[in-house]
Amino acid sequence: MASGVTVAIVGVTGAVGQTTLKILEERKFPVKALRVFASERSVGKAITFKGETVRVEKLGPEAFKGVDVALFSAGSAQSREYAPQAVRAGAVVVDKSSAYRMDPAVPLIVPEINAHALRGHQGIVACPNCTTIVTVMPLKPLHDAGRLRRVIATSYQAVSGAGVNGVEELRRQTLQWARGETMTTKYFPQQIAFNVIPHIDKFLDGGYTGEEMKLVNEARKVLEMPDLAISPTTVRVPVFTAHSVAVNAETEVAVGPDRARELFAAFPGLKLWDDPAQNRYRRRTATPCPSRSRDRTTATSVASARISPCPTRSTSGWWVTSFARAPPSRESRSPSS
Ligand SMILES: NC(=O)c1ccc[n+]([C@@H]2O[C@H](COP(=O)([O-])OP(=O)(O)OC[C@H]3O[C@@H](n4cnc5c(N)ncnc54)[C@H](OP(=O)(O)O)[C@@H]3O)[C@@H](O)[C@H]2O)c1
Repeated sequence: MASGVTVAIVGVTGAVGQTTLKILEERKFPVKALRVFASERSVGKAITFKGETVRVEKLGPEAFKGVDVALFSAGSAQSREYAPQAVRAGAVVVDKSSAYRMDPAVPLIVPEINAHALRGHQGIVACPNCTTIVTVMPLKPLHDAGRLRRVIATSYQAVSGAGVNGVEELRRQTLQWARGETMTTKYFPQQIAFNVIPHIDKFLDGGYTGEEMKLVNEARKVLEMPDLAISPTTVRVPVFTAHSVAVNAETEVAVGPDRARELFAAFPGLKLWDDPAQNRYRRRTATPCPSRSRDRTTATSVASARISPCPTRSTSGWWVTSFARAPPSRESRSPSS
């Protein structure tokens, strides 16, 4: 009998699902059998994995029989409905949606930071929002060295974070502009081509958006600092893949740029491309474009660590990730949460 695990991908036709498939292949994850699921309209569609065709199946009560690991990326509603069914069938669920992230019974994991929180999981493990991951990775070594006191984070988020609809909208509007046509906006709240939109997810009471509060709450949970002061601004930019974040982090003990660079260089999952005198960031992965084309890992790149002039215990930096990669674009679909 073949060795390995039986893996299910729920939301396989989406941006995250397609990227998950590629990563399972690239990393030679020991997949004994693969089951793939999406919405009813995709049932029967052919998905290629390791050169073999796998057909998209319909979700239902029997869907997870025999599945060891179920990777969910079909939106929160689907996770809420089907992840418990997968657990009851004996699978461990890794959920990419926001459905369980803040559930105290569910660990919210960035493996390099809090893998220990996996102990005692009850079948569902949540994955943070993509911008949270980029933000907390370099914060963790800064915190360990100087104890974080306050963080100001401003994101520059690619359209891939909004799924295949987001990628398609930027592509379509760019082509419309190039052809001299009127741009049509179907998915984002405003035109995204040649624009920046400081509005991701819904506006909440207090004026912050859902995306901004995800960053605050999830970073606190992952870093195990429930009272950490975080001031977030999340912005959608006309970049296809890879999110960037400009961060100012104030610590109780000063961490200068040289020490910060050492810490970043030594931390697993971080790549340091900071060498201002050589403009090293330009040649490597510290901007979204090279990040997408060259970096086939999921590492977060850090560039431009510097000391903030005010206050003196602040370290500032620019971090980028190749976390999400462009899926094949597709015409209209409904937004996922
Ligand atoms: N994009 C990112 O970088 C990113 C990062 C972190 C977390 N997430 C989260 O991951 C989830 C998926 O995001 P995405 O960007 O991949 O979205 P997406 O590109 O819009 O894909 C959504 C996927 O869910 C499937 N789906 C939709 N309704 C369904 C239903 N009723 N039953 C079963 N499957 C259904 C879709 O299938 P069809 O093709 O058949 O419609 C598609 O496979 C969301 O919760 C999102 O917040 C996304």
